Amino acid sequence: MTNYIHINETNKEFHLTNGKISYIFRVMEQTNTLEQLYAGKTIKHRESFGHLIEREVRPSNNQVTGDHTTSLEHVKQEMPVYGTTDFRYPGLEIRYPEGDRISQFEYQSYQVEKGKKKLPDLPATFAGAEEATTLRILLKDRYSDLILTLSYTIFHELSALTRHAEIKNTGEKTFQLERLMSLSVDLPTDDYDFIHLHGAWAREAHLERKPLMTGVQSVSSTRGASSHVHNPFFALAKKNTNEQQGEVFGFSFVYSGNFLAQVEVDPYHVTRAMLGINPHQFGWELEPGAAFTAPEAVMVYSDAGLNGMSRTFHDVYRKHLISPKWSGKKRPILINNWEATYFDFNEEKIMELAADAKALGIELFVLDDGWFGKRDNDASSLGDWTADPKKPPNGVEGLDEKIHSLGLQFGLWFEPEMVSVGTPIHEDHPDWKIGHPGKNISHGRNQYVLDFSRPEVVQNIFNQMDAILGSKSIDYVKWDMNRYISEAYSQSLTATKQGEVMHRYILGVYALYEKILDKYPELLIESCAGGGGRFDPGLLYYAPQTWASDDTDAVERLKIQYGTSMVYPLSANGSHVSAVPNHQVARMTSLKMRGEVAAFGTFGYELDSTKLSEKEKVIVREQVAQVKRWQPLIHQGDFYRLESPFESNTTAWMVVASDKSEALVGVYHVLAKPNPAYERILLEGLDTDALYQIDGAERARYGDDLMQIGLVLGGNYIGRAQDYWGRSMPGDFSSQLYHLQKIDKSEDDG
Ligand code: DGJ
Repeated sequence: MTNYIHINETNKEFHLTNGKISYIFRVMEQTNTLEQLYAGKTIKHRESFGHLIEREVRPSNNQVTGDHTTSLEHVKQEMPVYGTTDFRYPGLEIRYPEGDRISQFEYQSYQVEKGKKKLPDLPATFAGAEEATTLRILLKDRYSDLILTLSYTIFHELSALTRHAEIKNTGEKTFQLERLMSLSVDLPTDDYDFIHLHGAWAREAHLERKPLMTGVQSVSSTRGASSHVHNPFFALAKKNTNEQQGEVFGFSFVYSGNFLAQVEVDPYHVTRAMLGINPHQFGWELEPGAAFTAPEAVMVYSDAGLNGMSRTFHDVYRKHLISPKWSGKKRPILINNWEATYFDFNEEKIMELAADAKALGIELFVLDDGWFGKRDNDASSLGDWTADPKKPPNGVEGLDEKIHSLGLQFGLWFEPEMVSVGTPIHEDHPDWKIGHPGKNISHGRNQYVLDFSRPEVVQNIFNQMDAILGSKSIDYVKWDMNRYISEAYSQSLTATKQGEVMHRYILGVYALYEKILDKYPELLIESCAGGGGRFDPGLLYYAPQTWASDDTDAVERLKIQYGTSMVYPLSANGSHVSAVPNHQVARMTSLKMRGEVAAFGTFGYELDSTKLSEKEKVIVREQVAQVKRWQPLIHQGDFYRLESPFESNTTAWMVVASDKSEALVGVYHVLAKPNPAYERILLEGLDTDALYQIDGAERARYGDDLMQIGLVLGGNYIGRAQDYWGRSMPGDFSSQLYHLQKIDKSEDDG
């Protein structure tokens, strides 16, 4: 245990380390608050890190009379609070019964335990006794009976820590919790770039990188979901850090609701990074005996560039967040009828698509929106989860049976959190939707949000879903969510509890996931929120894959999938091949490119297969067979981004098997260039000494050769036409996959 957490009882210093990462803090003498000493690349353990304490007389407010070095404004802290001379934004804010917000949390004790306990009602990473060690620090408020517990878990094999906080009211009075950030860390310099993922519907996960400026900068959500606009992730990268090298801290939040990811650079160039529930619209009434747990934040350190950071996130989430039932398991290749039919289908059409799917080697048929109530468009029936007899005439049961009898698995779309006007639950329970009854309640896509802060609402939807799921053996559910919350108000909560609505709503969503998975543990759930509007680690805990975007265009997907891979493993990234002209941008790309982009994700089809030509069907059959063969490599291997779609016309990425025996490289060119320049793609992650055979290539090549010199592009394009000189021209939107297999050195042809 002490190998991972070193504790100096005399100086009250704590050093979490695993040979990759070090995280050091201590208890300050005069104020008993926690002082951050170091976070970053592992350093050797010392009995004391007292030499890292910085104290100077500065022009500031000081807590201790006569001492001019006790300003917390100048101390790096673990959980800053208001009222202690620190003028930066706090990690914790409480409104006391007297109306003030002055707190002082003082160190009491610590506990160390093997592994990691489950968080109450919240998704979080998990780890066994041999995989992680947890340190808990207990602090007590000097002015009340509030106890704050900060929990730190260090994974033994990964350059990653998790943090979360819990506050408990052990006294007699009621307090208002106004802010409890899950993670706060003060870094000693500000020479970082702030990197984050932003977007909107159909263009999620776009990468942005800007130098830090003095003052506050943040990304956040106020929408009731983590949202398309910003992912609950950010990174702080040193200026010289790129994909391949340099230092970077990555921060990711295991939560699906409103979040705040804030960085504050103070006048002394200290950088405070924070991650937690967004204090805007948040408040929690802490009654006597009550406790509040803030969700978990994950911090990754990498000195191997952004790729190093992402590989650690992928490992943390594959090994410690995604259900072991799915993280290493084969995912079915699916066909989804949404872009094929939208709402306009009947059983005959569905069976035609399903029969085609089977013949093409596809494994799972997903019936999307429109199968229930009277839903022929997006203005009705949400909340009425009974099959529309016009669509499957013998109900979901009948269709399920027919699809299964073809030898396919069957999946179904739900949007459990929503309600349409005219449905029984809407008419019978007008108080079950979120919004103030005396004020305007806005619709989004003609629908309203059910008040999932009410357990009876969650129970009602569970019962309805259970009736469908229990009627047959449904293998997969696509769980959609297509609007944000704009007027947070619950008719079941008192005035002093209205700040709790957004968080209670998300807890209700998690509770429904728990209930469904408790009863149907084998069910594969793909989460979705109008595409990637809730692509976050919180939902990944329940749903091992997320539909990354409603944009299925192969060129747009390069950016979306590249950005998403910053945090999330390829096995989580829902990706389909769709028809052309593409339904979101009307672009014409080849079936080859669409397949070769979607291959780096969960993989499936979303098109009307009856409209495919025989030639196209041959290609689809080959694609399906190829992905089946390569899926373990793609989903379990180490992913490297090689060339960024945000920076050039070429995108390249690759995945390498963990034993380096095999790799798959994807190279994509958006526009064709006349008389193109020579191009080489430097590979990564290979065994320098091993000989690799690239499928179709004449010569095997060594790992060092491929990583130093690279793939030499050009001659091996599959041309759409030839130019005047007889050169093969791939045209716009081209792509090529390169599959590498380690071979015996005796096969080297010299
Ligand atoms: C939004 C999803 O992202 C789509 O894939 C589709 O399921 C529609 N909703 C259905 O309404």
